[in-house]
Amino acid sequence: MGKVIAVAGKGGTGKTTIACLSLRYLVKNGYRPVLALDADPNSNFGESLGINVERTIGDIREEFMRSPETLPAGMDKISYLHVLLNQVLIERDGFDLMVMGRQEGQGCYCMVNNVFRQFSEDLAKNYGYVIADNEAGMEHLSRRTNGRIDILLMVSDYSLRGLRAVKRIYELINTLGLHIETKGLVVNRAAKEMDATFLKEVEDMGLPLLATILEDETLMAFDRKRQSLIELPDTAPSVIGVNNMLDRLISK
Ligand SMILES: Nc1ncnc2c1ncn2[C@@H]1O[C@H](COP(=O)(O)OP(=O)(O)OP(=O)(O)O)[C@@H](O)[C@H]1O
Ligand SMILES: [Mg+2]
Repeated sequence: MGKVIAVAGKGGTGKTTIACLSLRYLVKNGYRPVLALDADPNSNFGESLGINVERTIGDIREEFMRSPETLPAGMDKISYLHVLLNQVLIERDGFDLMVMGRQEGQGCYCMVNNVFRQFSEDLAKNYGYVIADNEAGMEHLSRRTNGRIDILLMVSDYSLRGLRAVKRIYELINTLGLHIETKGLVVNRAAKEMDATFLKEVEDMGLPLLATILEDETLMAFDRKRQSLIELPDTAPSVIGVNNMLDRLISK
């Protein structure tokens, strides 16, 4: 079973970006293949990786529930679901992407959910690392849809509200008793010189500061041009920040 790296934090703080740069690090450092898992219902992990996603797990679930009787000849429901699930996996150089999509809908999904759970457990065995991009907030942690997490990057921007959101996430993890080997704060879009009040607040949070990632013009230009963040140069400040963090966190 691969190690799972996940992100959490307030909306718009840079979770997807840091998931992309972590994927970039792993792919470029030979940990291939990596599984990129988009667990945000407003999926955009693919977009940031320059991938046009046409089908999600949510879509095939809907398709399957709408017409469960139209199975290809000689195939039972479970094998057919496996065929569909495999179609959602997008293969790229060094990594695969799977997008969860929207999970709501009517009807009983138990059978589909069970097949999916088994499928994703089996799938994760093929990778040394899984990187999960999550929606904003804490819902995903209380639902624990990601299962085990080995490294949790709790992302804040350079704001007190961002830090407070991380604090609440950290408290929730403790309340739920989730065991996560490595977890800590990542300050993103940071300035070279930061306010004393902000730094004091970071210190008082009592959790490890895993990285400080600078506001990065090159990254913003890539984002505007919809260019894959995998292609960012090694010299981009955001890339340097994430690379330094993972050099420390990932045992070679
Ligand atoms: N270090 C950085 N420097 C400059 N811009 C950044 C940096 N990190 C992220 N951004 C920009 O901030 C915006 C939000 O980033 P991102 O989509 O990664 O956040 P998010 O936490 O995933 O948002 P959401 O909660 O909506 O999923 C994007 O336009 C991204 O390009
Ligand atoms: Mg995001």
